[in-house]
Amino acid sequence: MSLARIKPLDAIIATAEKKSLHRSLGAFQLTMLGIGAVIGTGIFVLTATAAQKAGPGMMLSFVVAGLVCAFAALCYSELASMVPVAGSAYTYSYAVMGELMAWLVGWALILEYALGASAVAVGWSGHMVGFLEGWGLHLPHALTVGPKIEWGILKGGEIGGLINLPAVLITALMTWLLVIGTKESATVNAVLVAIKVAALSLFVAITLPMVFGHTANFHPFTPRGWGNPLDGSGTGVLGAAASIFFAYVGFDAVSTAAEETKNPQRNVPIGLIASLTICTIFYLLVASGVIGSFGAQPLVDPATGKFFAGGAPELYASAACQSAHAPVVCSKEALAYIAREVSNPIFGQLIALAATFALPSVVLLMMFGQTRIFFVMARDGLLPGALAAVHPRFKTPWVVTTITGTVVAVCAAFLPVGTLADYSNSGTLFAFAVVSLGVMILRLTDKSRHRPFRTPLLWLVAPLSIIGCVVLFVSLDRASQLVFLAWTGIGLLFYFLYGYHHSNVARGIVEVDGNADMTAIG
Ligand code: ALA
Repeated sequence: MSLARIKPLDAIIATAEKKSLHRSLGAFQLTMLGIGAVIGTGIFVLTATAAQKAGPGMMLSFVVAGLVCAFAALCYSELASMVPVAGSAYTYSYAVMGELMAWLVGWALILEYALGASAVAVGWSGHMVGFLEGWGLHLPHALTVGPKIEWGILKGGEIGGLINLPAVLITALMTWLLVIGTKESATVNAVLVAIKVAALSLFVAITLPMVFGHTANFHPFTPRGWGNPLDGSGTGVLGAAASIFFAYVGFDAVSTAAEETKNPQRNVPIGLIASLTICTIFYLLVASGVIGSFGAQPLVDPATGKFFAGGAPELYASAACQSAHAPVVCSKEALAYIAREVSNPIFGQLIALAATFALPSVVLLMMFGQTRIFFVMARDGLLPGALAAVHPRFKTPWVVTTITGTVVAVCAAFLPVGTLADYSNSGTLFAFAVVSLGVMILRLTDKSRHRPFRTPLLWLVAPLSIIGCVVLFVSLDRASQLVFLAWTGIGLLFYFLYGYHHSNVARGIVEVDGNADMTAIG
C-alpha cells in the first residue's frame, strides 16, 4: 500500500477518447466561456472589500492577482490539453502525484466551488436587495444578512442580521435547475457575457471621465501599505490581492473545455489569456472609475483609531456607513451604488439589474463544477458510491447536487461575502499550486507523451505560479488560513478512515469511465 497510488494516465486518457466530444469550440467561444465564468461577485461586490483593505492601491491588487492567475492558467492548459476529462485539477493530481494529493486537491476544490458559489449567492443577494431598495421596496434587514458570528475562527455576519434569505432562495433555485439537468448553453452564456460586459462598460463610461477632475482621490495611494503577509491581518495591497483573486477564479472552465476545442494547442491558450486579459483590463478600468469618481479610502474606526477590517460587522454598523452617501467600502453592491451616487440613479439600477440577472449563472457554474468533482471522487471510490447515484429520469447526479446545494445554502445563509470568498480562495490557491507543480513533474517523468499544448517557459512560469499562490495564501487573513488547515485536517481524517480503504485504485479497479455524458468544468 502506498500513499502515492497513481491512476494510470493512459487509462484516464482512454476514457477521454471514449467520450470523444465533438471538437467545435474556437478561440472566440473559449474566450466567451472564460469571461462568463470569471466576471461575477468579485468585481461587482468585492471591489468594496478591496478598497477597505488597500484603498486606491487596490489597482495594484488587481494586477498582482491577475498575474498569478495568468501563470496558473498557462500551467492548467498543458494538463487540460493532455488529460481533458472530468475532475480537472483533481484528476491531474491523481495521475501525476498520486491518490493522497488528488484527495487533498479534490477536498480543497470543495472550498473553491461550494464556498465560491455561496459567495456569489450572497453577492447576488446584495444586488437584489439594493435593486428593490432603488424602487423603494425595503426587505427586513434581519432576513437579508447573516447573524454576527464569533465562533473561534469563524467570524462574520452582521449586527442585527438573522439569515440571508435571498441567497438561500437563489441557491435552492440553482440546485433545482441542476437536478433537472439544466446546463448553460453557449448561447445563454453569450447573452449573459454581453449583459455583464455592457454593465461594466456603462460603469466605466460614467465614471472614467470623472477620474481626470479627481486625481486627489488617488492620494494616499496605498494608505495601508503593501501589507505584511506574516501578520495575518489580510490587509494592504497584498491582502486585497488575496481577496480580489476571487474575481478571476473561473477561468479554469476554459482549460477543461480543451477536449471540445478545435486546435487546442492554439485556441486554449488564446481563450485563457484573452479572457484573463479582457477581464483584467475591465477590472483596472472599473477600479480607476471607482476611485476617481467616488474615492476608495478605507474607513477608520473612530473608537480605536485603527482601520476597520474589510466587511466587518462593526464597519457596517459605524456612523459613517449609516450616513447618507456612505463611502463605497460600506456597500454590498459597490458598482451599482457608485453609479447611483455619481450619476442618474437609473444607471445604478441598470447595473444592479444586470448583476441580478447574470450572477445566478456563476452560482450555477460553480455548483455544477462542485457536483462533478464530487461525482468523480465518488466514482473513484474515495467518497461513498451512493453519492454518485444518477437520477433515473433526469440522468443527473442528484444526490451530490442536493448535498452541494444544502451546504452552499447554509454557508450563504450565515456568512458574509468577503469571508466566503477568502475561504474559497484558500482552496483555489492550493489547487493552482499543485497543478503548477504537477506540470513540472510530468515534464520530467513522462517526457515523450504528446502534449497538445505546452506551457511556454514552463521552468519560469510554473515556479512563478507556485510562488504567487503561496504569497497570496499567506496574505489572506489568519482565519482563512486556519479554515483551510482545519478543512485539510478533516479531509485527511476522512481519507484514512474511508477513501484509503475503498479507493478503486487500491482495490485494483482502474475503470475510470462512468457516465459518458457527465462532463465537468472545474
Ligand atoms: N470570479 C467569479 C466571481 O467573481 C467567481 O464571481
